[in-house]
Amino acid sequence: MDPSLHSCQIDPARLRSLLGGASGRFTIEALRECGSTSTLLLERARQDATSGSVLIADRQTAGRGRRGRSWWSSAESGLTFSVLWRFTGGVARLAGLSLAVGVAVARALENCGVPGIGLKWPNDILLDGGKLGGILVELDAQPDGMVAVMGIGLNLLLPAAGAEEFLHRPASLSQASSPPPDRHQLLARILLELAVVLDRFAVAGFSVLREEWQAHHVWQERAVRLLNGGLLDREGICLGADSDGALLLRTAAGIERCLSGDLSLRAA
Ligand code: BTN
Repeated sequence: MDPSLHSCQIDPARLRSLLGGASGRFTIEALRECGSTSTLLLERARQDATSGSVLIADRQTAGRGRRGRSWWSSAESGLTFSVLWRFTGGVARLAGLSLAVGVAVARALENCGVPGIGLKWPNDILLDGGKLGGILVELDAQPDGMVAVMGIGLNLLLPAAGAEEFLHRPASLSQASSPPPDRHQLLARILLELAVVLDRFAVAGFSVLREEWQAHHVWQERAVRLLNGGLLDREGICLGADSDGALLLRTAAGIERCLSGDLSLRAA
């Protein structure tokens, strides 16, 4: 359907009412279509967008994933949005932020009655082993601190493209509950959990959320291979993340610490 012919699926007023007392912490805008909610919010971050700005799009024409990949979803099948948050201090204080966002999304999904949620380092959201969604955190240093734009994409229904087009087997919320959770309720719950998690993170960093992240971590204590640009980088037993969000691997050389960059994990 031509996206200009139907109204936005997200009604900001309804979303605000679901946010209750926390609604003042967010500035919500819903668009029928844009290139990428994250790209647009990053541009606005360089102007004067306030912390708590939320941009939701029914359709992105240039949705972006990690490592330069594109992120595809339609209004019918997905929930795609970005949240801007301002932090005091430098970039070092934001170590592990994308893992912290994963904790908030996992909590929200569980609170909406979705069982079987897992997290995969650094920022995949899994449902029964398939990729339910992804998180893309982008940072910008500004004179008065850091700004983070956290882009989140979730599959409500299975993406229409054939599974062979996806690097990871996709999963959708419709697998876990039929009908899938109401979009507004799910989004409100994610924003509420994000506010709680980001407040804690801003004060104490990822270390206070680490245990909860590890409890959802699908590769915990399992043999894994770490790939760099598709090539084997290291292998070992995955020990989860350290308090800075780096991945810990027990290898023949001892416990090694791996930082995000271009790395991805596979079963050994
Ligand atoms: C990944 O798994 O590679 C991360 C995917 C992140 C996709 C979301 S959808 C909303 C926001 N806008 C974008 O262009 N990307 C993020």
